[in-house]
Amino acid sequence: QENEEIICQKIAARKKELGGNLLILGHHYQQEATFRFADLTGDSLKLARNAAEATDRKYIVFCGVHFMAESADILTAPDQVVILPDLRAGCPMADMATSEEVAWAWEDLAKVTSGRVIPVTYVNSSALLKAFVGKHGGSVCTSSNAERVLTWALAEGEKVFFFPDEHLGRNSASALGIAEDEVVLWQRAKPLGGNTPAQLEKAKVILWDGYCTVHMQFTAAHVAGWRERDPEVRIIVHPECRNEVVNRADQYGSTEAIITAVRDSPVGSKWAIGTEVNLVNRLKSQYPDREIHSLSPFQCLCSTMYRIKPGYLLWVLDNLAQGRVVNRITVSPEVAAEAKLSLDRMLRI
Ligand code: 13P
Ligand code: SF4
Repeated sequence: QENEEIICQKIAARKKELGGNLLILGHHYQQEATFRFADLTGDSLKLARNAAEATDRKYIVFCGVHFMAESADILTAPDQVVILPDLRAGCPMADMATSEEVAWAWEDLAKVTSGRVIPVTYVNSSALLKAFVGKHGGSVCTSSNAERVLTWALAEGEKVFFFPDEHLGRNSASALGIAEDEVVLWQRAKPLGGNTPAQLEKAKVILWDGYCTVHMQFTAAHVAGWRERDPEVRIIVHPECRNEVVNRADQYGSTEAIITAVRDSPVGSKWAIGTEVNLVNRLKSQYPDREIHSLSPFQCLCSTMYRIKPGYLLWVLDNLAQGRVVNRITVSPEVAAEAKLSLDRMLRI
């Protein structure tokens, strides 16, 4: 095992060598040791746009998780190569909605309801699910545009079927003022998702029962704890948190929105942040003149994001320097064409 400093020097040298052919993208949840090599950093929406705009780069190395690299492959030209430094870096939430399960639920729903249903999938989903959504006239959304996409979908049809994150869907519906009894949960293991035909007919938003294991760790009790400990602390959380947490927080938003809120706050501000620990720690070191805490006393780490270690980044760059491509993420042209419909719709909305 090489010492981290040596690995880092080698990455810097390889980056120089590969020059303008290479673009390294880094999601905000990446560990610092990897994140510092990113040419561009951002939330999922920003990184998807960055990939789409990087038409002059042959190699895009995505320091993030699998669905992000898939989206980048869909949005780039066929001769551009997208690489994920560790293929085990998936997103457990994305795995909670397979395109087969969704297709079965879609058929079952159509049997008991009337009116047009618009599918919307969170970007944290497989290319196959994005393709299903594209084929059925729907759109992708991210945590920074979910409310906008939901508004669009409700103007296009009578109902929205929202995958895979129950909580982002519920928080967005609640922000739009949709009544609680018009939002229902589709539980995968139950016939009709555990609902009656009448409940489904009445529903405006039907939520898939996926969730993020990291953001589930933040609770309403954590919010109450901070309120009691220090009333000056502002609480900001990611919309993948449960509705009871988001409702009790002062603000919520995507990773990019969290960063902007902290950056734009006056010196001396106090924050308790409900999102992944690597981002919270980075904010702590970037803004030592603010008081920054995690909302939870426990370490809320995304273990799959954490798989992208500098050693893997070096390995893919070493291979590129020798003319070999390893860990390429490719989406078949047929799937990519349909998935692109749903991604392009989002980029337009
Ligand atoms: P952002 O779109 O806010 O970057 O979130 C992505 C993600 O995976 C959050 O868990
Ligand atoms: Fe998936 Fe949650 Fe990790 Fe984001 S933080 S990549 S939603 S498991």
